[in-house]
Amino acid sequence: MAERVRCLVIGGGVAGLSAALAVADAIPEGQRVLVASKSPETNTSKAQGGIAAVVGRDDTFESHVHDTLEAGRALCDRLAVDNLVRQGPEAIRELLARGVRFEASLGREGGHAQRRISHVADKTGAAIQEALSHAVRAHPRIEVLEQHLATQLTVEGRCTGATLLDMRKKRETKMHADAVVLATGGAGRLWQRTSNPESATGEGLWLAYQAGAELADLEFMQFHPTTLALPQARNELLTEALRGEGGHLIDADGARILADHPLRELAPRDVVSQRIWRSVQLGVDVFLDVRHLSRELLVTRFPTLMETCAAYGLDPAEQPIPVIPAAHFLCGGIRTDLSGTSSVPGLYAVGECACTGVHGANRLASNSLLEGAVFGRTAALRILTEKPRGTQAPPQDVGRSAHHATPSDSLASLMWRLVGMQRDEQGLLEAIAGLASLQPTVEQGMLGVAMLITTSALLRQESRGCHQRSDFPATREEWQRRIVLSKNAPPRMEPVAEEKQESAAVLRIPGIPAGRRVTRTAMRPGF
Ligand code: SIN
Repeated sequence: MAERVRCLVIGGGVAGLSAALAVADAIPEGQRVLVASKSPETNTSKAQGGIAAVVGRDDTFESHVHDTLEAGRALCDRLAVDNLVRQGPEAIRELLARGVRFEASLGREGGHAQRRISHVADKTGAAIQEALSHAVRAHPRIEVLEQHLATQLTVEGRCTGATLLDMRKKRETKMHADAVVLATGGAGRLWQRTSNPESATGEGLWLAYQAGAELADLEFMQFHPTTLALPQARNELLTEALRGEGGHLIDADGARILADHPLRELAPRDVVSQRIWRSVQLGVDVFLDVRHLSRELLVTRFPTLMETCAAYGLDPAEQPIPVIPAAHFLCGGIRTDLSGTSSVPGLYAVGECACTGVHGANRLASNSLLEGAVFGRTAALRILTEKPRGTQAPPQDVGRSAHHATPSDSLASLMWRLVGMQRDEQGLLEAIAGLASLQPTVEQGMLGVAMLITTSALLRQESRGCHQRSDFPATREEWQRRIVLSKNAPPRMEPVAEEKQESAAVLRIPGIPAGRRVTRTAMRPGF
């Protein structure tokens, strides 16, 4: 006999934990929220730079919206962006209330016209993860199952639960839930070079796809410009905040490779990554140079950088650090509305595994933790107002997946080589054939997600944001659409709701005061 909970959250990063806490805070005693998480290492826990939100005195919502739309290369959903930005200050206030000790100074990152990054040195994600994990563990109505992987969703007209595998005991349990929230994060591990932890294998996408949900914008894997480029390195991230504080990108002769760009090293991520990539392809290595910053600043503001580099015998205060782009953030995912509702009733998606349209073709730096915090809470509020409906359909377990395995080297190197920084039709067709030939040896779900991403990349015959095609180098107006994939229908091109909306059109969700500003004093008493 399966157990029943009010809400099952699958995934333990900022989005999942924010959703779990918001549901649990509002349900009566006797009801339960269950969080199933396969690994303590999440993309949240590894996030360094910070969380973008309008909390600075001279900043405006309009400016943050503008920067997000600009980075997204005309593929953002305007309403989603408005909601993200206007709920940013409230999300920061809530994180402060949960115990995250943001620093007084705001950081700056690529594509932002203002300093608007709240941070905890360069360990912001870890601080948020710790505070939310603590709140979840202390909550009387939340139960956490660690090292539990969702292997199937139960669908009976609507999603009514999931099968969870206890990865230690190798035992499966069926859970029934009024609402199931996928918060499984990204899929960077499908590429050979990635900043992501081992857990980022995209299982939520596969489960949702098999359940009949729509997926969108999958071709837009964002490549972070600066990971450590040493043969023995595991692609450690060197935070963008380093460039925000004045770090330069130079070649071996010391020339700045972005000297001709008006924003220099603070150009949006797609531009910076492509510049580095092209340079490296031409045999010119690229380095992050922070020697002109003080050692004191490096040690206090960037302890992760100093620790990472020291582990490889490098001292950023004395020498330029070799860098290379790596797969970092999936801009697309499970298609949802602004409250996280997927196209399958009862199934919600939040955070990196979701696609609200907020990132378009290229996510703005530090909008990802914000997305998790904001849309995690809005999904929770929708769940609380939904009355679970019964269905007549017979129950079906869909999407068998075993994403605890690490993607094989052959899968990850194929994705890196053929579905990476520069793509073309021939390579993408080769990738599809190559993936098909891996079928007997690679876990089906990972292969399936890789295939969906490659298919989207093949369909989009243009270059835009994170998706660059050498055979279609221009951005084409007729492609200002998102590609929507679903198991039950042929690929669909969806027009983008990019038009300016009246602010009255911003989704109002009970309990969330959209657009309230938080002053720095209110954020942290004492400064
Ligand atoms: C970074 O610290 O550079 C990563 C932040 C992000 O992905 O937005």
